Amino acid sequence: MKLYSKEVMKHFIHPQNVGKMKNYDGLGKAGNLKCGDIMYLYIKVGKDEGGKEIIKNISFETFGCTIAIANTSLLTTMVKGKTLKEALKITKEDLLKRFGRVPLVKIHCSLLAVDALGETIYDYLSKNKKPIPKELRERHERVERDKEIIEIRHKELVEIEEELHQKTKHIK
Ligand code: FES
Repeated sequence: MKLYSKEVMKHFIHPQNVGKMKNYDGLGKAGNLKCGDIMYLYIKVGKDEGGKEIIKNISFETFGCTIAIANTSLLTTMVKGKTLKEALKITKEDLLKRFGRVPLVKIHCSLLAVDALGETIYDYLSKNKKPIPKELRERHERVERDKEIIEIRHKELVEIEEELHQKTKHIK
């Protein structure tokens, strides 16, 4: 039996919306407690015909594994054009369902994309002094606590990831 499903391989081999965005409206960073891998996610916010705020553009940069890359690629394709509220409703289980089969040891990697998206929307809302839903605030506090632990537990790796992040060029 193959380790990864066709859908995982599709997004891993041809990841969508990869790269560091210039002039973003929101930037989120999340880390994985178990492995120390980091995800950066960028959004550009626009409005739909009804005036609701939507994710007009999205991109990501990660130092995570196959599942982290494939998962985030999938998530970006799912939330592009969606309202911020709709995007926040997507869970790691939704992504896993779409992938069909993910090895047990890789389940934790699926949370990285969802956490980073939450952080990105949190960043956008707080920078623009907009109301932040309670659930998102709590999620943000957990991600912040996790990041503090990661910085101690995976110090060396985090430093390398930070250096790589600084050196990465922006996409247009
Ligand atoms: Fe680190 Fe998957 S092993 S994100």
